[in-house]
Amino acid sequence: MATPRVLSGMRPTGQLHLGNYLGALKNWVALQDSCSCFFSVVDWHALTTDYHDPSAITANIREVVLDWLAAGVDPERATLFVQSDVPAHAELFLLLGMITPTPWLERNPTFKDVRENLKDRDLSTYGFLGYPVLQAADILIYRADQVPVGVDQLPHLELAREIARRFNHIYGETFPEPASLMTEAPKMSGLDGRKMSKSYGNAIYLADDEETMRKKMARAVTDTARVRRTDPGEPDNCPVFDFHRMYTPEEERAEIVDGCRTAGIGCFDCKRQLCDHLWEELGPIHERRVALAAAPGRIEEILAAGAEVARVEAEQTMERVRAAMKLVR
Ligand code: TRP
Ligand code: SF4
Repeated sequence: MATPRVLSGMRPTGQLHLGNYLGALKNWVALQDSCSCFFSVVDWHALTTDYHDPSAITANIREVVLDWLAAGVDPERATLFVQSDVPAHAELFLLLGMITPTPWLERNPTFKDVRENLKDRDLSTYGFLGYPVLQAADILIYRADQVPVGVDQLPHLELAREIARRFNHIYGETFPEPASLMTEAPKMSGLDGRKMSKSYGNAIYLADDEETMRKKMARAVTDTARVRRTDPGEPDNCPVFDFHRMYTPEEERAEIVDGCRTAGIGCFDCKRQLCDHLWEELGPIHERRVALAAAPGRIEEILAAGAEVARVEAEQTMERVRAAMKLVR
């Protein structure tokens, strides 16, 4: 069987945090070994919600790519590129828009969700409604077989498949139907116990240095019933313990459970142990990030090379698309 083609994208909304790393990036890094991977910074998608102030998008592209590389995404093995560097995405978006029934978009649960959650912005725009059509174009233009995404993106993936089917039905077999590759994201709460999110200000970033990480962790909420050092606690009710489950070896973790329930250890020491383990994973990432950020022109070089590869692939698909639609004169 041919090597599966993988495509995924991230919006350039700023530096990536541990939740992004565990929920997506770590999986991307693993996929590079067995698949032909295309990873895109989808800057036009960022515009759908941030069109009123796009000033941060350009700087954020760089931050996101720094995080990818630091986490181990390898430009020698994967194609890294910026969506807007491949204008054919916009052409396919337009053509797919012609055949996408608007009710498919209006009933999209993510569309309703995001509009509810971002009440301060006017998202009754054509571009925002068309978000999944652009996403379908991102995927189909590389004839991707697999798309690694989190659960929240499954409705978008389903739409991409429906659009591919509709296109194939009207104009003849052109696109493979992309399968979603569900990323099993471990439950990872933020420092306040809510989902780790940039907008909650409760995240640990890949760019954080060790001291910052330790300071943040020191402030993290624990079992709220454990008020004093002498109160026993319950690890199952403690967001910090979720991290221990990920990072601390079993034997040590058993001691922590026991120590917490008997008030034998305090949260201060418990967190210190966690940070030691956490930094084993984050330390090397952080160091790579610092080195890359200091290498002049490196990111630009990688993105220019990636765009070249992506443009060739995208153009090949567009030739098939135009032919299928009888648009060739
Ligand atoms: N909608 C995705 C998100 O918010 C980002 C995205 C855009 C994407 N195009 C894509 C993901 C193509 C996978 C494939 O996370
Ligand atoms: Fe949580 Fe550890 Fe404190 Fe127990 S000792 S409440 S597991 S931080």
